[in-house]
Amino acid sequence: MTDTLTIRRPDDWHLHLRDGEMLKGVLPETARDFARAIIMPNLVPPIVTAAEAAAYRDRILAALPEGMDFQPLMTLYLTESTDPQDVAAAHADGLITAVKLYPAGATTNSASGVRDLDNIQKVLEKMAEIGCPLCIHGEVTTDTVDIFDREAVFIETVLDPLRRRLPELRVVSEHITTKNGVDYVKSANRNLAATITTHHLMINRNHILVGGIKPHYYCLPVAKREVHRLALRVAATSGDSRFFLGTDSAPHTDPNKESACGCAGVFSATNTMACLAHVFEQEGALDQLEGFTSLHGPAYYGLPVNVGTLTLKKHTHPIKFPARIETGEGPVTVFDPGLDIYWSVE
Ligand code: DOR
Ligand code: ZN
Repeated sequence: MTDTLTIRRPDDWHLHLRDGEMLKGVLPETARDFARAIIMPNLVPPIVTAAEAAAYRDRILAALPEGMDFQPLMTLYLTESTDPQDVAAAHADGLITAVKLYPAGATTNSASGVRDLDNIQKVLEKMAEIGCPLCIHGEVTTDTVDIFDREAVFIETVLDPLRRRLPELRVVSEHITTKNGVDYVKSANRNLAATITTHHLMINRNHILVGGIKPHYYCLPVAKREVHRLALRVAATSGDSRFFLGTDSAPHTDPNKESACGCAGVFSATNTMACLAHVFEQEGALDQLEGFTSLHGPAYYGLPVNVGTLTLKKHTHPIKFPARIETGEGPVTVFDPGLDIYWSVE
């Protein structure tokens, strides 16, 4: 039996760090295990310009505890008034790694997102030209589309037409939650990859709704039926380099989650690597974990792999992870995989 596993230090290709006291509280949870992360720009107000991204990067680095080694990979929040030249300059300087597209109203703090893709055609053309990746929250927001169908409808009505119009644009389909998403990514032979979260590999929609409503499992895109979770697990553990880890770890304080209108987001930074070791072991694919967490992402983004390593150890007893972490803004509940995990990061 494998009881230790050493892999290249992982990266998180989709992470929410917030700002201020919340940032201080959650950043060490990621920086402990991950060398780099793609930082989501959906602050209030969002990170829209290169200058805002530079200032946010500096606040993240200032919040990093002494001795921790972590590189935030910044993104810009795309709006209908984003200036293509600002994006190009920020990308050329190495200040930003990608640009994030939120359809307006799709999720937390997405009100300034994009209503009509026609209005951002110039920016997208510029990004295609300079090779700047577009990270997409792939859900339609139309009232008449059922929340469980929003990803599948987005692929057909927005993503596929966009990619046909601009085949040179490098796209990351973020946090895919459906077999439709897996199949679509597999059907593309270039310029498309997808991130998958830890929690979507471990929960389906029953976890949210059976036996009482569980707000800490509520996120967007919402977890789907079991058949979709199983398709995600096959994709993540297959060794296919088009799939890599983006935790979408998204902290909200417990009062904001446990409310009549609870916020969307699962906070999984604390135990993600242990949970993933469990999933990959269950699938008989521990040898594919390193690809998913540490190799495929850098390859798609054209970045070097990390020099350091991370060692996971399997114990004979279940590991107790903290139920919540304390932050200056209040407690944040840690993702509960709902089963015993025997792995920990050494
Ligand atoms: O569940 C989510 N939480 N999904 C998102 O897309 C945004 C995120 C957040 O910012 O809390
Ligand atoms: Zn997110």
